Amino acid sequence: MKAVCIYSCGGPEVLVYEDAPGPHPGAREVLVRIHAAGINPVDWKIREGHLKEMLNHTFPFVLGWDFSGVVESLGSGLARLKAGDEVFSRPDIARDGAYAEFIAVKESEVALKPKSVDHIHAAAMPLAGLTAWQTLFDAGGLSSGQRVLIHAAAGDVGHLAVQLAKWKGAHVIGTASARNHDFLRKLGVDQVVDDDTERFEDVVQPADVVLDTMGGETQERSWKVVKPGGILVSVANPPKAGTAAKYLVRQAFVFTQPNAAQLGEIAKLADPEKLKVIVETILPLSDATRGQEPSERGHGRGKIVLRVV
Ligand SMILES: NC(=O)c1ccc[n+]([C@@H]2O[C@H](COP(=O)([O-])OP(=O)(O)OC[C@H]3O[C@@H](n4cnc5c(N)ncnc54)[C@H](OP(=O)(O)O)[C@@H]3O)[C@@H](O)[C@H]2O)c1
Repeated sequence: MKAVCIYSCGGPEVLVYEDAPGPHPGAREVLVRIHAAGINPVDWKIREGHLKEMLNHTFPFVLGWDFSGVVESLGSGLARLKAGDEVFSRPDIARDGAYAEFIAVKESEVALKPKSVDHIHAAAMPLAGLTAWQTLFDAGGLSSGQRVLIHAAAGDVGHLAVQLAKWKGAHVIGTASARNHDFLRKLGVDQVVDDDTERFEDVVQPADVVLDTMGGETQERSWKVVKPGGILVSVANPPKAGTAAKYLVRQAFVFTQPNAAQLGEIAKLADPEKLKVIVETILPLSDATRGQEPSERGHGRGKIVLRVV
């Protein structure tokens, strides 16, 4: 099969588009013919070697952990899916990824793709959508009527988090640079904070949940805007132990996990367009290098997706 592999960690030049051996599905796994693969920041972070101790990949391996495709064949012991099913997934990040024509994944990581959403848009949803779901609902416990502050609300995770929080009935505050303000208002954000001209801690009333997608200084300044008893949930860097207790709040770090049941919920919202993902750029699989560059620069608005079929 054609795939984009790396033989060592490094810059965009280490990506190699080549013929690679095709995978075989093991027990309780499916082989999927990939139609489209989403690009996420974790792709270039792994390419650069940031998570190497945690993931223990063996070179060469395939990058990319977001895809939509069609079940080609089944391993043993499966009943839920059949060949020909259209599926989407954020598979196990410790295994070969989805910048490829085929992938073997556990059945428990795969859900039926939303029927009304094409493969390009479906491939853009799983990783960012599961991240939003697991931070807001599993870690944050966000419920109707609560206030949530979402940092980088126009980003890939952010714009899906905004829509899920609105669906839940929360009051949503989002930070973004000026070019994204109209976009956020159209998504239903109740209070838009300008990253460049305002300090969010000066203009935001404390929130029950703060979703920190930026880490660093943004995280440090965020403690002041968590309500007593509320929670700061980060996906950027784990908060220093004990910091939350000083502010009488709680803290969590989420590393997104595959979850077919939650993807099924996301598909149910995507079909009637209660949840829409914005795709900015579509590139052929062979152009993965060009796709990762804007992600690495903090590209702005909308996902970048590789078309495989
Ligand atoms: N722990 C996990 O499992 C997990 C899962 C998913 C994502 N993440 C992490 O969460 C972060 C966000 O992911 P994403 O997919 O939403 O990324 P993204 O779409 O690339 O987010 C970029 C957004 O951040 C905003 N931004 C603000 N300051 C920025 C700066 N200094 N540099 C770049 N962008 C800046 C930009 O919006 P404005 O121009 O409006 O400011 C832009 O829309 C990444 O670090 C990613 O690795 C972690």
